[in-house]
Amino acid sequence: MNYGKLWGISVSPGDPEWMTLKGLNRFRSTSVIAMPQNRKGEPGMAYRIVKQYLELHQKLVPLYLPFVVDRGILTQAWNDAVSEILPFLKDGLDVAFISEGDVSFFSTFSYIAQTLNQREPEISIEAIPGVCSPLAAAAALKTPLSIWDEKVAILPALHNLDELENVLDWTEVLILMKVGSVFGKVWTILEKKNLLDRSSLVEWVGWDTQKVFENIQNLKDYQPPYFSILIVRKTDYSFRDKKS
Ligand SMILES: C[S@@+](CC[C@H](N)C(=O)[O-])C[C@H]1O[C@@H](n2cnc3c(N)ncnc32)[C@H](O)[C@@H]1O
Repeated sequence: MNYGKLWGISVSPGDPEWMTLKGLNRFRSTSVIAMPQNRKGEPGMAYRIVKQYLELHQKLVPLYLPFVVDRGILTQAWNDAVSEILPFLKDGLDVAFISEGDVSFFSTFSYIAQTLNQREPEISIEAIPGVCSPLAAAAALKTPLSIWDEKVAILPALHNLDELENVLDWTEVLILMKVGSVFGKVWTILEKKNLLDRSSLVEWVGWDTQKVFENIQNLKDYQPPYFSILIVRKTDYSFRDKKS
């Protein structure tokens, strides 16, 4: 049987010009575009980023992918999503699943790909890498993410704040994803460690709503949005303009 192929296309965390040429070429040449949407039928960030590249012949397949932590609900949603795209693949059509940031970095694409692979192992799947949010945030901050022999740690949603203290003991650079909901507690720990002036916050990187805080000293009671990244860099290094 001549199956189509599932492509995972990284569309960047915000700026459409951050999409790679390979990602854009594959996106344009694929007739079926699968994309996350919420229960209200609102398309996710990935769609908003690539909307301008869409062409009339392309069929959109919105997939309901809920924003929950319950594994049972998620597994059902990934299975339903695979059932939606499977008829196209079985008809020999390629499907491009678009993902905000990079498809291999905390992305739903990984779960969809694994579910498809378990159900139909003969269908091939390929990921196209791209810019992920920590790299874009470092660029917005005008600092490197790492130099020399610096160790970099990435923590996803923080469920255990002791973990943050432990990691801060050995890493030179710490990236905290999904920091919005725990920002107050994180701020208190960073204050205790004397690292507030070494911690930067970037919100909505690559969007018109982007905000950059070079340090978080004055953000004690601040509530960042979900799309925020905190970067703690123990040594000072930046290439910012020196304004008087
Ligand atoms: C589920 S992860 C998705 C990561 C994404 N695949 C990537 O490559 O960056 C969502 C988290 O990524 C970070 N993030 C993604 N896009 C962002 C953006 N445009 N600005 C700031 N943070 C972002 C935030 O920490 C957010 O809570």
